Amino acid sequence: MPKAELHLHIEGTLEPELALDLARRNGVQLPWNGLDELRAQYRFENLQSFLNLYYQLMAVLRTADDFRDLMLAYLERAHADGVRHAEIFFDPQVHLDNGLDFDMVMAGLLEGLAIGEERYGISGGLILSIVRDKPVESARSMIDLAEHRAGDLIGVGLDSAEVGYPPSLFEECFAHARAMGLHCVAHAGEEGPADYVTQALDLLHAERIDHGIHAIDSPEVTARLAREGIALTVCPLSNRRLQVVDDLRELPIRRFLDQGVAVTVNSDDPAYFGGYIGANYQALADIGFGADELAGFAENSIKHSFAAEERKRQLL
Ligand code: ADE
Ligand code: ZN
Repeated sequence: MPKAELHLHIEGTLEPELALDLARRNGVQLPWNGLDELRAQYRFENLQSFLNLYYQLMAVLRTADDFRDLMLAYLERAHADGVRHAEIFFDPQVHLDNGLDFDMVMAGLLEGLAIGEERYGISGGLILSIVRDKPVESARSMIDLAEHRAGDLIGVGLDSAEVGYPPSLFEECFAHARAMGLHCVAHAGEEGPADYVTQALDLLHAERIDHGIHAIDSPEVTARLAREGIALTVCPLSNRRLQVVDDLRELPIRRFLDQGVAVTVNSDDPAYFGGYIGANYQALADIGFGADELAGFAENSIKHSFAAEERKRQLL
């Protein structure tokens, strides 16, 4: 089934084995002795407990080759799962805080994407993601830094700890990104309220909502998503592992479908949540979604991607 992946953090594809290899290669000290000790850290009570590990492990990424290798490892797995187009988040503020150069990070990721396109036929690009629990000034200066690379980016996003960091804080940053010609998406309604989804639409002009699970708490917000054709990039295994829901059957996917909201299926941070995109589709099949519904999610992913119309026609 040809599909697009629309919600994937490249740093979230850093498998523990690769993290240890890169730590060794780059002389980065990690607080765990070996793979078993590191693997024991992958139990999460909520988004924050995951983010703590995710940001800590990002310290092993130091060179353009590291970013290229990370991208290629992801694209190889994505290809095996039938991904034909991928729109991939990265978190530049964290890499800048780790002392890395923005253009070096971009160079490594873009080299990986170019090799992946040639090797696997996967199209796509990069979405610059704002880390919302860092100071707004940090987001502002990162967007300024990215301006001369706008042609190498497809969009801007908003991620990290959600509650207490409403989309309204980033209205100006998103206005600047839009003026740079970037598409806009935002994580909203993962742990935060339906009102954050409204803010993402009204203030950030988000064209898709990442997660969006809590939109279901508001009939008005759900109806608006349907009416305005705003797709949700749902990540089932992520929601379960971060305890957004206790059981996948609690995800409101069927209610969204019944109300006409476009749902797509994605992997978020597959190295942390127990599976790549194919495993996320499989998890939905296991709780009773039929082949036609799964095919609908895949079709939505292509339709709601930012691929050129000609590419979409090729993939549909
Ligand atoms: N960064 C990486 N994964 C994330 C998620 N699921 N939610 C918010 N920020 C993230
Ligand atoms: Zn995410």
